[in-house]
Amino acid sequence: MKLNIAIDGPSAAGKSTIADLLAKRFHLTHLDTGAMYRCCAYAAITQGIALDDENSLYETIKNADIRFDENKDVYLNNRKVTLEIRQNEISMAASKVSTFAKVREALVAMQREIAEEKGYILDGRDIGTVVLPDADVKIYMVASVEARAKRRFQEYMEKGIDADYDTIYKDIVQRDYQDTHRAASPLKKASDAIEIDTSDMSIKEVVEKVSNIITDICG
Ligand code: DC
Repeated sequence: MKLNIAIDGPSAAGKSTIADLLAKRFHLTHLDTGAMYRCCAYAAITQGIALDDENSLYETIKNADIRFDENKDVYLNNRKVTLEIRQNEISMAASKVSTFAKVREALVAMQREIAEEKGYILDGRDIGTVVLPDADVKIYMVASVEARAKRRFQEYMEKGIDADYDTIYKDIVQRDYQDTHRAASPLKKASDAIEIDTSDMSIKEVVEKVSNIITDICG
């Protein structure tokens, strides 16, 4: 059976890593929707578009070509931006551009089109509430700020990205605020989503737990 799975939650809760592993286990394609908002922020910064210029952001992202390959590399208008979009400056800018309804409208349309055929696992902030309200399984993944800051710091070290723990911690707090307080599709748990607190869980434990939920719901 072809499924669509939605994983939502705050920054650095482990959504993308878990979605990737679940995709392999259940033969699904993982779509990292946060990377799409990051591409919008990256395009704005590199093209000199102000981060509060909603109309220009919309025009830019509506006409952009965003692609993912099988190695998880991200391409924006045929340029590989995998590492660039993970920089802290882009994380903050992505959170900012994602507040605009027109930017969300353009990206949600792309995401729905991609997932139309089913067989996808999408991770983001509004997948269960807006992008795929009929998803077969909805997971809402949370973790303490400390646990998330530690994981993100570790991830940056492993990827060779310059990082400072205190800055990461503060930025997570600020992004949580921005993501939950924006007017357009704020981060919130869908009423039919299952919440998992991953603060004290290993990646393997989370994958097992979600896998059991998927099997229970979908057989
Ligand atoms: O998941 P991430 O950290 O890569 O996401 C970057 C930013 O994009 C995040 O601060 C909020 C925004 N985002 C969103 O608003 N909706 C999504 N579906 C995914 C990400």
